[in-house]
Amino acid sequence: MKILVTGAGGQLGTEVCTYLRSLKYMVVGATRRELDITKFKKVHTFIMQEKPDYVINCAALTDVAGCEKKIRDAYLINAVGPQNLASVCMDSNAVLVHISSDYVFDGKKSTPYLEFDHVNPLSIYGKSKLAGEQMIQVLCPRHYIIRTSWLYGLDGKNFVKKVLDLARENKEIRIVNDQRGTPTYTKDLAAVLEYLINTGAYGTYHVSNSGECTWYEFASKIVELFQLETTVKPISSSELDDYVKRPVYSVLRNYLLELTGDKIMRPWFEALQDYVGEWKKLDR
Ligand SMILES: NC(=O)c1ccc[n+]([C@@H]2O[C@H](COP(=O)([O-])OP(=O)(O)OC[C@H]3O[C@@H](n4cnc5c(N)ncnc54)[C@H](OP(=O)(O)O)[C@@H]3O)[C@@H](O)[C@H]2O)c1
Repeated sequence: MKILVTGAGGQLGTEVCTYLRSLKYMVVGATRRELDITKFKKVHTFIMQEKPDYVINCAALTDVAGCEKKIRDAYLINAVGPQNLASVCMDSNAVLVHISSDYVFDGKKSTPYLEFDHVNPLSIYGKSKLAGEQMIQVLCPRHYIIRTSWLYGLDGKNFVKKVLDLARENKEIRIVNDQRGTPTYTKDLAAVLEYLINTGAYGTYHVSNSGECTWYEFASKIVELFQLETTVKPISSSELDDYVKRPVYSVLRNYLLELTGDKIMRPWFEALQDYVGEWKKLDR
């Protein structure tokens, strides 16, 4: 089985390539420089030459605040990119696996979002990610759309590294305590991606670690597990200079995985504990 991973230089793309190679899949990892998903002709030529059985799209514009200012880029990368991949996958008979986001929801629920819940993104990032999902649904029936949340891995930028950096420089850090979601370890997500592509059960899935917390609770756990001497102070979102509308509640329930299989994701704090162990092994 040959698998093309786009956005292979990013946080999740790096993890997915490493994980699949460790299981002896034939993986072609394409960074942005090697394959810009917004260029239809290049996508067409690349896929027709490589002839992958699966394309896993980890490419995206993920800077949520940046998307509000770079609206054109957000739609180009998060919607037109998936559209290009979907149409070429359809022509070349490849299955498309696409990563989407909890930000397709508006956060008005107070119980975890199911795959069947109404979407209503608040931000440009969320809207462009939803548009990407819709392009794929229309153009390429053999697809998996995987919505995940609050990703962190050993590579790339993420909240864990941000907390570590802030904690190194400050005795006290202030973190919002009124947005709830679920941190998800890229290693756990990569394992479920591999599981899903072997089921043949196409569709839209929620895949995040289990449980929920606020960013403040997440930061407090990071500080505790890394044994940092920083105090974490809870604040409200209104105290931040953030112009992005974010869902206050974006917990995903992996309902389709519960209904159709036996894949239960471990709690987020257990995954974080594992991550800290891996981090320490790398001696960073
Ligand atoms: N991070 C999160 O908390 C989170 C939460 C929910 C869902 N997701 C979704 O998970 C997926 C992976 O996110 P991530 O955290 O791995 O993001 P990431 O680290 O920002 O990786 C995205 C990668 O896509 C590349 N890219 C950007 N534009 C491209 C283009 N036109 N063609 C090809 N590659 C391009 C980027 O390259 P450059 O760096 O060179 O621009 C980067 O390597 C995304 O679909 C994201 O929406 C992420």
